[in-house]
Amino acid sequence: MKQKQLDELKDECKNCIACELGNTRTNIVFSDGNGNSAKAILIGEAPGENEDKTGIPFVGRAGKLLNEFLEKTGISRENDLYIINTVKCRPPKNRVPSDTEKKACEQYLLKQIEIVNPKILIFCGSTALKSFYTNKIPISKIRGEILELEIGGKIRKCIPIFHPSYLLRYHSLEEGSPRALMLKDLVKIKNLINDKK
Ligand code: URA
Repeated sequence: MKQKQLDELKDECKNCIACELGNTRTNIVFSDGNGNSAKAILIGEAPGENEDKTGIPFVGRAGKLLNEFLEKTGISRENDLYIINTVKCRPPKNRVPSDTEKKACEQYLLKQIEIVNPKILIFCGSTALKSFYTNKIPISKIRGEILELEIGGKIRKCIPIFHPSYLLRYHSLEEGSPRALMLKDLVKIKNLINDKK
């Protein structure tokens, strides 16, 4: 049922030229994961080169690292998550999407959230965080906290986490390191998904 609505929305999105990214994309990158019954939506920044080629979010280097972290913490990409980005088309040279581009794409993002209606939104990286949270707090200060934000007329539980591209630069797993904090945040998310506090 949800999947059918999502498929219709994806068909609409395929023809979108609401911003200039529509002129340079190869494919729209609409979503991956479980549209029907995911407990959490993970929102990344924007498609990169591999995502633009395949039409699937998080399949490049950052995506592979994300998969490793999900596996380590027992979160299933296929069943527990619905994975999307703030914009559906690749910004040239992987630059950060502009506010105009994000605004043009918001119609799809908000609809996806409304349809899937998950328990938790995961803001993966500061672009996703800033799309919904206007306080200028850096992600390093707010990651792992549960925020209750009004999104599309509904109060939703949201958790910011580091973006895996950032983690590619730090390899340590020592306590307090970015990778250790990412694991901690994902365990928290796993417990929320399983209804444990
Ligand atoms: N980075 C993102 O934020 N999203 C993707 O889909 C891939 C890399």
